[in-house]
Amino acid sequence: MVSRVIPVDPFDLTIFGGTGDLARRKILPGLYRRFAAGQIPDGCRIVGAARSDLSQDAYRDEVSDALAEFVGKDKLSPDTLKAFLGLIRYVSIDATGDKGWSELKGHVRDDRISAFYFSVAPSLFGAIAERLHGHGIADDTTRIVVEKPFGRDLESARALNRTLAEHFDETQIYRIDHYLGKETVQNLMALRFGNVLFEPLWNSQFVDHIQITVAETVGVAGRGEYYDRSGAMRDMVQNHLMQLLCLIAMEPPSQFEPDAVRDEKLKVIRALEPVKPDEIVRGQYEGRSGGQSGAKSRVAPYHADVDDPDSRTESFIAMKVHVSNWRWAGTPFYLRTGKRLKARQSEIAVVFKDAPHSIFGAEAGRHRNILTIRLQPNEGMTLGVTIKEPGPGGMRLIDVPLDMTFADALGAENDQVTDAYERLVMDVIRGNQTLFMRGDEVEAAWAWTDPIIDGWVSADKRPYPYEPGSAGPEESQMLLHRENRRWREIRE
Ligand code: BG6
Repeated sequence: MVSRVIPVDPFDLTIFGGTGDLARRKILPGLYRRFAAGQIPDGCRIVGAARSDLSQDAYRDEVSDALAEFVGKDKLSPDTLKAFLGLIRYVSIDATGDKGWSELKGHVRDDRISAFYFSVAPSLFGAIAERLHGHGIADDTTRIVVEKPFGRDLESARALNRTLAEHFDETQIYRIDHYLGKETVQNLMALRFGNVLFEPLWNSQFVDHIQITVAETVGVAGRGEYYDRSGAMRDMVQNHLMQLLCLIAMEPPSQFEPDAVRDEKLKVIRALEPVKPDEIVRGQYEGRSGGQSGAKSRVAPYHADVDDPDSRTESFIAMKVHVSNWRWAGTPFYLRTGKRLKARQSEIAVVFKDAPHSIFGAEAGRHRNILTIRLQPNEGMTLGVTIKEPGPGGMRLIDVPLDMTFADALGAENDQVTDAYERLVMDVIRGNQTLFMRGDEVEAAWAWTDPIIDGWVSADKRPYPYEPGSAGPEESQMLLHRENRRWREIRE
């Protein structure tokens, strides 16, 4: 099955922070892939803007190197690459001064969509927005894209929203949470609202609990300074896990349209109960000294990665969350995320309740339907159903998976699932804000998060240590065990 590519309208996209890590790793490779797929028309411009003094050719060389590294040398076609580099421009700009702005104005044309990606520190948002307007580069049709972290608490997020609102209308602001661009995350909406099968069961009457796990194997070395000021709560829960929770828990919007969807997500965030301290477990990874050949490799402990032996920041968090509304009263959501865990595995598991009465007697055992939505790797969904064990041995029940791995189900052409950034940048050009966070959503998420973090700061406790390559601290298992539930295994 080959997917249809509809080209977008002509645009000029400027990337502030055009030489930065995000541009190199995600934005430019994503644009290249969309160009190669025929979605970006010739004549568009992609303008890198950054502080360094670089010639046009030197920047194109940098772009070309980034594509070789992050798209893959073998996936670049020389003709396509040449044509793509033809779209690229560079401006050396001073975000807080005068340099470069008139030149940028020369690159951004009036007769097409213009978008500006603020891939820079949030402290520069105001200065850039002001200059875009001051130099007549932006108007009320301009779109701007901003990245997380969107503030570090409610107060700073409000301040950022106010700064942006001085220059742009909410309909012009695209706040990225790249989890919303993941294929399976969108499929979650298709699954819930495109089928009649699940929605009648999607409530506390039938769902025992829901688990959301985002496990990573990487540590925080190389970004210790940022991470140690954030921790898993600010880095992952306030945004990515919260968005997943919203899509699982929200009421059906009346339309798949930006404000209809975002209104429903906002209601979920506002319905979150404050989390009790004994329903959260924080962890911090230890090191591993390595060993004989064949043994596992050496891993530095968290405190060495962030260069602070006394750090109390969490690299792991597990928590029980309640959505207090009619649909979900009594069905807990368990959230878990961490670095240096056993495997890279992100999934949502909807664990249904037991059948109300077992006609097969106690020896048939306990069987539950579990719907698993895998975000990565091997994007797909599995529904565990109970059947009779084949054979003549009486009525024995077993659980078997009804498995749909997207790459298998949709054929080989789709095996390269579109990267989240790729899709989201195209949505900006299409002017579709559905998969972007609205200002009030971000603020509501911080309003829920702040008291939790404030509680830790005043308690001043160390997170529980956990072994690298494990499933996190033992205490996080207890969070479920004490309620007669268990986390799904994180599999290597
Ligand atoms: C980022 C976090 O937003 O998401 C990182 O800052 C994290 O700490 C990353 O590793 C995870 O994204 P993905 O797409 O690899 O799951």
